[in-house]
Amino acid sequence: MKNIKQSWAEPYKIKMVELLKMTTPAQRKKAMQEAGYNTFLLKSEDVYIDLLTDSGTSAMSDRQWAGMMMGDEAYAGSRNFYHLEAVVKEVYGYKYLIPTHQGRGAENILSKILIKKGDIIPGNMYFTTTRLHQELAGGKFEDIIIDEAHDPENEFPFKGNIDLNKLEKLIKKHGANKIPYVSMATSVNMAGGQPISIKNLKELRVLTKKHGIKVIHDMTRVAENAYFIQQKEKGYQNKTIKAIVKEICSLTDGATMSAKKDALVNIGGFLAVNDWDVFEEARNMVVVYEGLHTYGGLAGRDMEAMAIGIGESVSDDHIKARVGQVIYLGEKMMAYNVPIVKPIGGHGIFVDAKKFLPHIKQEQFPAQTLAAEIYLDAGVRTMERGVVSAGRKANGKNYFPKLELVRFTIPRRVYTQAHMDVIAESAARVYERRNTIKGMKMIYEPKYLRFFQAKFEKL
Ligand code: F0G
Repeated sequence: MKNIKQSWAEPYKIKMVELLKMTTPAQRKKAMQEAGYNTFLLKSEDVYIDLLTDSGTSAMSDRQWAGMMMGDEAYAGSRNFYHLEAVVKEVYGYKYLIPTHQGRGAENILSKILIKKGDIIPGNMYFTTTRLHQELAGGKFEDIIIDEAHDPENEFPFKGNIDLNKLEKLIKKHGANKIPYVSMATSVNMAGGQPISIKNLKELRVLTKKHGIKVIHDMTRVAENAYFIQQKEKGYQNKTIKAIVKEICSLTDGATMSAKKDALVNIGGFLAVNDWDVFEEARNMVVVYEGLHTYGGLAGRDMEAMAIGIGESVSDDHIKARVGQVIYLGEKMMAYNVPIVKPIGGHGIFVDAKKFLPHIKQEQFPAQTLAAEIYLDAGVRTMERGVVSAGRKANGKNYFPKLELVRFTIPRRVYTQAHMDVIAESAARVYERRNTIKGMKMIYEPKYLRFFQAKFEKL
């Protein structure tokens, strides 16, 4: 019996379903044209399988829905806030909590508190909103992720790791007093959901402590990162996800969280810190930007659903099925020779558009083009993560990132294995006719986070 594999399967059953609209090729063509070839501008009604993001798109459990009914909608001191505060302390270990409406609300407050004009913020690859808040606060982001992360073919298991030599060089060049903190993300989104190892985090802790530099953790997908540590890092096979998550957090000084991912809610986030002074300032500031410090822009019921979701997110059975489904899709795509970022990450499959469409120059937006073509084939909505997402530098020039990717992001607990089959087959069909696909030009460009609203035209 030794050779029979043990499949992952969902640790839940389905209690309610949401019906989807199926579209024809002609309907999809019209919808895509009207959306200016930007999948963000499609109407969700015109989408069959929505892989735009895993953010706020997860299915809540019956317990979370029950929690929604227990919302204490008092303006101040809601009991759901105290429940959430206790859960954050218990599961993540951070001392002080400031709820925010979502992750970027926390990024805004934190950046304003910790960054002074002219500061340098090193990080393991940028995330769009995180870097923008750092820049708006007067800082400059410096990428210190290991080189392997920029190579979609490299199979190193911890491509989210920080290159400590790059960090030391920055400290030498600018001085530690110009570096308020290292912006460290678990499950590095833009690299393809790649994890950071505990070993790397421990080394980072030693180096930053020596120089009096904080480590701020973007913990949006920390449980998925913990899963890869459990599966791949020496000494962690017998540890629970819960224990690994807590250990990760213990190596950092504070965190920003978009609870719309790991924590299985449709809206919500927080800032959590161990330092009383930072907490006190954040508590002052949250009132200006989000709401009182015991609700931060959320309803009581949202905080309750978040508290329950955090508990569910660190269950070993949950995370095994969650990442298992992502790996299932990735392996299926690889079997069809669709070029994807390896190793497969935690929250989605990232297709390498440079390899998929080598005849389209980066100036003509290969990933944006590919995302449009994927939608046209079968109504699967994906997202560009390349030159459009990267935006422009302070001097107005485009960032040209090495990675030019299309993200197939899997919402948690939403789609079935049969959906994964349909998605992989659709990607394979587009791959077969790749030579007939032409690039695009941008005809409208918003000033900030242009990928959300830019419009394009076929060349
Ligand atoms: N940090 C990371 C790593 C994220 O992936 C996101 C959001 C945020 C911060 C911001 O959080 O959306 O709650 O304000 N990522 C979404 C995505 C939008 O599709 O990857 P938010």
